[in-house]
Amino acid sequence: MRHLLSVDDLGGRAGIERMLDLADSFLAVTRREIPKVPALLGKVVVSLFYEESTRTRLSFETAAKRLSADTMTFSVSTSSVKKGESLLDTVQTIEAMGIDAIVVRHSAAGAPHRITGWTRAAVVNAGDGRHEHPTQALLDAFTLRQHRQIEGTRIAIVGDIVHSRVARSNVKMFAALGADVTLVGPPTLMPESLEGWPVGVSHDLDEVLGEVDIVYLLRIQQERIASGCFPSLREYTARWGLTASRAARLKPDVLVMHPGPMNRGVEIAFDVAGAGISLVTQQVTNGVAVRMAVLFDILQEPKDGEAGDGAPDEGGKQDRPEEDGPKEDGHD
Ligand code: NCD
Repeated sequence: MRHLLSVDDLGGRAGIERMLDLADSFLAVTRREIPKVPALLGKVVVSLFYEESTRTRLSFETAAKRLSADTMTFSVSTSSVKKGESLLDTVQTIEAMGIDAIVVRHSAAGAPHRITGWTRAAVVNAGDGRHEHPTQALLDAFTLRQHRQIEGTRIAIVGDIVHSRVARSNVKMFAALGADVTLVGPPTLMPESLEGWPVGVSHDLDEVLGEVDIVYLLRIQQERIASGCFPSLREYTARWGLTASRAARLKPDVLVMHPGPMNRGVEIAFDVAGAGISLVTQQVTNGVAVRMAVLFDILQEPKDGEAGDGAPDEGGKQDRPEEDGPKEDGHD
């Protein structure tokens, strides 16, 4: 993998499973007393975030640090973007400092793809507009896999589908792993066409509630909604929110997922968010291990003009990153 822009870049089911297995060994690393390996020593990872983020940015930065990479953080509010610098000039400025990977979040779909044309660094999409969020889908599959066999699991993805890059990436991810996915929400929050999407659709949460194994809730993306998609948040909650009374009607072993940030009291009731059936905190914990796997994998790829096998330089012993990778036990 040269870049990770979309779930499609992971190489289908086999590639996804390989990445999830790699994340498993990094999860073991994160549980050590010293949760760090020297795998990416000397590499520089930049996070370039043009949109707000709490967990995704911190998760990538923690992942890079646990792999011993140097990290640089770029946040729009304190940068020269405020003085009118373009995305191209910003990328070229960062590139000139010598970097290996750019983790990018942008409100424009396709921005990470565009950046690949401007830099020799590997690019990881941390969410672009309504398009994709592949590491979120990976960490969700990873979390689900810890509890269930994904093949044949019935998953309802509920809420603001049309504005959600998480929905788009997760439909691809869950379908690739053999889950049975139903999208649930008001017609105004569904994409105009679902042609080619491997999903069922329902506009009635109560109808699907008793049949699913996993309820995956999405935030109403107020910042992307023009207006009039539903009468009010209160009405949304009444029809599509996972309220306490709906939660009481779920099958006994149902699990609830949410990518965060949650709007408690809107798409998810306070008590449900904190209940034992909620995997939200595990999703965040697993995010670090999954992003360690992605950064490790992507930075092993030979860059243009390099020898390409990751072998030590002639004339001097250099650690092979492979040998510094995750190990099940012991400390590095
Ligand atoms: C999501 C995002 O930004 O796409 N959050 C996240 O990355 N954990 C979902 C959202 O903002 O609702």
